[in-house]
Amino acid sequence: MKNVNFVSLTLGFASLMTACKPGIIAQKNNTAVSTEKLLETRYKMLLDYPVDSMSMPRSMNLKTNEIRKVPSKDWTSGFFAGNLWQLYRLTGDSRYKEQAQKWTPFSKKESVNSNSHDVGFKVFCSFGEALKVENKKEYEAVIIKGAETLCTRFNPKVGSIRSWDFNKEIWDYPVIIDNMMNLELLFEASKISGNPKYRDVAIKHANTTLKNQFRDDNSCYHVIDYNPTTGAVRKKTTLQGYNDDSVWARGQAWAVYGFTMSYRYTKDSAYLNQAEGTAHFFMAHKNLPEDGIPYWDLKDPGIPNSPRDVSAAMVMASALYELYTYTQNQSYLAFADKLMASVQSDKYILSTAINAPFLLDHSTGNWPKHDEIDEPIIYADYYFLEALLRKRS
Ligand code: GLY
Repeated sequence: MKNVNFVSLTLGFASLMTACKPGIIAQKNNTAVSTEKLLETRYKMLLDYPVDSMSMPRSMNLKTNEIRKVPSKDWTSGFFAGNLWQLYRLTGDSRYKEQAQKWTPFSKKESVNSNSHDVGFKVFCSFGEALKVENKKEYEAVIIKGAETLCTRFNPKVGSIRSWDFNKEIWDYPVIIDNMMNLELLFEASKISGNPKYRDVAIKHANTTLKNQFRDDNSCYHVIDYNPTTGAVRKKTTLQGYNDDSVWARGQAWAVYGFTMSYRYTKDSAYLNQAEGTAHFFMAHKNLPEDGIPYWDLKDPGIPNSPRDVSAAMVMASALYELYTYTQNQSYLAFADKLMASVQSDKYILSTAINAPFLLDHSTGNWPKHDEIDEPIIYADYYFLEALLRKRS
């Protein structure tokens, strides 16, 4: 693991380069500021953010200082409540729980919105987190309703849940690697309800993804387009990567997380093998920077001047902590620890001078669309907090 010995912190008037003890990242007037203190300051900013039933904070443009707020139909709408629930579990401070209880209903209506596969992200990252803290039937009901809705997008001929309905002139039946993340809602809904239907759909989707979404080197494509009548693969392509043959960093992380999580529920060794294969591919990639935080696409020709994607790193870290529990492979633990040490530094923690409900800087949302480049994005925080909880347990 790389030790963070020299770091800088801009303190209004000066940028200091300070030789530090581990855990100490900056000094001003001989006052040591620990990473823990910086994070605690940032955590509290989530409590200050006013509850707004119309919009959820998604990301922040640091050039204009504008917070991007989204309605519940946005795929990220469950993360803010999820972050508050996780902060409650991390700190034991009941103020996070009170705020989480206010935000959780925000994404409830998405449990009946069948317009995209993202019902899993929206419902499970909010209500699923709520259920870990409070054993309430009403949370379970939303999860089961969401699973029912997600299953309406399953085509048995393809053996997959359709991801998106847009770009109909280009794709007939697009399935993206991110969709693996939505299976947790299905597996959990079967556990809660005793109805095997959701789990069966999840397994069929995972098997189809396993068959078609990966290259020989275990990296994955972003989008597979199917013929919905025959189930045949039409195209292997991308929307958020550099090009069809590139390695979109967050996609690799979704794959490792998705197949590790699917192994948790099924104990199917094929899922574990795929998670390990993609993890090894990622961890050994020649274009990974020294601190492990990947460029947004590992094959962007602009490397080393390309933006990083902290969100990809945090999804991967959280996945690797779980993968370690099934394999006892120390390299997963070491790599996850390295990612977590890297982001817990002033380079990646969002400056405490910025009052906004985010923790980490330097994520990249959608590079081809020039959207959310190198800025704080809410799902990086969600998987960071999840990884902290997994690391602690
Ligand atoms: N669709 C989720 C993502 O941008 O990774």
